[in-house]
Amino acid sequence: MSPVPNRIDRMPEPSKFFLTTPIFYVNDAPHIGHAYTEVAADVLARWHRQAGDDTWFLTGTDEHGQKILRTATANGVAPKEWADRLVESAWKPLLDTIDISNDDFIRTTDARHEAGVAKFLQKLYDEGHVYAGEFEALYCVGCEEFKPKSEIVDGTGAFAGEKVCAIHSKPLELLQEKNYFFKMSAFQDRLLALFEERPDFVQPASARNEVIAFVQQGLEDLSISRTSFDWGIPIPWDSSHVTYVWFDALLNYVTAIGYGSDDPEAAARFARRWPGNHLVGKDILRFHAVIWPAMLMAAGLEVPEHVFAHGWLLVGGEKMSKSKLTGIAPNEITDTFGSDAFRYYFMRAISFGHDGSFSWEDLAARYQAELANGFGNLASRVLAMNAKYFDGVMPEGAHDPTPSPSDASISELAQRVAVAADERIGAFAIHEAIAEIWQLVDALNGYITEQEPWVLAKDPAKRERLGAVLATATEGLRALAELLHPVIPLATAKLWAALGAEGALGALGSRSIRAAGEWGRLPAGTPQHPLEVLFPRIEMEAAAK
Ligand code: ME8
Ligand code: MG
Repeated sequence: MSPVPNRIDRMPEPSKFFLTTPIFYVNDAPHIGHAYTEVAADVLARWHRQAGDDTWFLTGTDEHGQKILRTATANGVAPKEWADRLVESAWKPLLDTIDISNDDFIRTTDARHEAGVAKFLQKLYDEGHVYAGEFEALYCVGCEEFKPKSEIVDGTGAFAGEKVCAIHSKPLELLQEKNYFFKMSAFQDRLLALFEERPDFVQPASARNEVIAFVQQGLEDLSISRTSFDWGIPIPWDSSHVTYVWFDALLNYVTAIGYGSDDPEAAARFARRWPGNHLVGKDILRFHAVIWPAMLMAAGLEVPEHVFAHGWLLVGGEKMSKSKLTGIAPNEITDTFGSDAFRYYFMRAISFGHDGSFSWEDLAARYQAELANGFGNLASRVLAMNAKYFDGVMPEGAHDPTPSPSDASISELAQRVAVAADERIGAFAIHEAIAEIWQLVDALNGYITEQEPWVLAKDPAKRERLGAVLATATEGLRALAELLHPVIPLATAKLWAALGAEGALGALGSRSIRAAGEWGRLPAGTPQHPLEVLFPRIEMEAAAK
């Protein structure tokens, strides 16, 4: 049989990758829906970073507008004070709770953002994209949006007889004001051409279809200022108006990377990072796939690379939400299961791009079967056998140019899943990338059962074969640590340390993920260390609550 190639011939060239989450409203503390978006973005960002791509991961908070103003007022504090309190006590701590590796955190009350928004608005005004007009329409404060007809429904129960928002189920408010308008209708044809020319601009396909259908119905101009309250960024040429909160918020994606600053270094950063990739929930797809590219076109800036809309976490068939008080706090889960399990569960159990329901039973079952028994047990068994039979060093045998077919099938699988997972991540199919990698977990467990190293160990004549089997299994763990690091950073770091890989191969986060399938990396003789239990047993009463 032919020797196994131990290098991957066609590895994608490193590229640049700028990724954003929505900036979240600070009217209340985060729930697992917000954490879901953060984790998905974090897995993508960690993957690209580990692949050597020039990666920048931005998240932050959306602090202006009526919703925040009303919440602050109801709590008897000024809106900025409220925002400061929520950012420090809830939104920044969320990032620690679930191990988010963001490079920047933008607040729409940052001076850099406010200056950039003013610059952008002035440019659009000077170039004739903005006019003054009068307007009367139904507004949802929950969405911070004048609602299109398709999302206005008849209220029920306490709101019978009223028009309510299809998302928030709360009454709409009839607003009549003098506003400034952005001539968004002028961009209808260019937007449709964009969706046509770049079929992966909006993903998944269901989101793309929805957006195309929406734009085909005809685009109206967009009201971009308000006069009835003052919690917002003043319109630069008319300070009796503040900027519409969505117009303000969307611009965070460019102000955070230097747009609108006079500093030449900021301009260089902007040129390096933009255009970006936006990960959003499907509730805010239209803002990102219609309004935002139209704004960018008007300003003569490039449109985003991709807009990916993921599905909703559902409770009783409805979107989990702050306003309906159906939210579960992320630490209710991480306190019991840990942050790695949180990350793994939501990325693995829900098809990215589709809705999904959270259940404690499903989480507990997957924790036990996949993380504890599948992966954790594999790692601890292999390391324990290395300790027992080879004095705790990496055995010889993973460098054999003519491995046995069973060994070769493991190394070939490692190569295949590494390439496939990278391709799946590139397509935002996070659950499929993990499923690819998990084939290697399952194959290694099967390999050990089949090879029975504990039987080989009884026969001194089979010492060489025992070494080859454990070396193959250990190389498999090395590859798994590298491939799973973006998903379960804590457990893989523990495994990396136990493998002694840090000394032999360097920091786990610096290991090229696209080369993870290359075989025979961990040198024979590398000293290993005891592994702490990666996913300890959890009492089911604690899990089931
Ligand atoms: O819309 N399932 O902020 P927001 C999945 N400030 N994801 C969910 C979710 C659920 N049940 N609930 C919330 C805003 N999310 C604006 C954004 S961007 C320029 C401005 C996540 O606090 C999901 O990412 O209402 C959704 O799009 C976002 O939180 C909405 O957060
Ligand atoms: Mg919302």
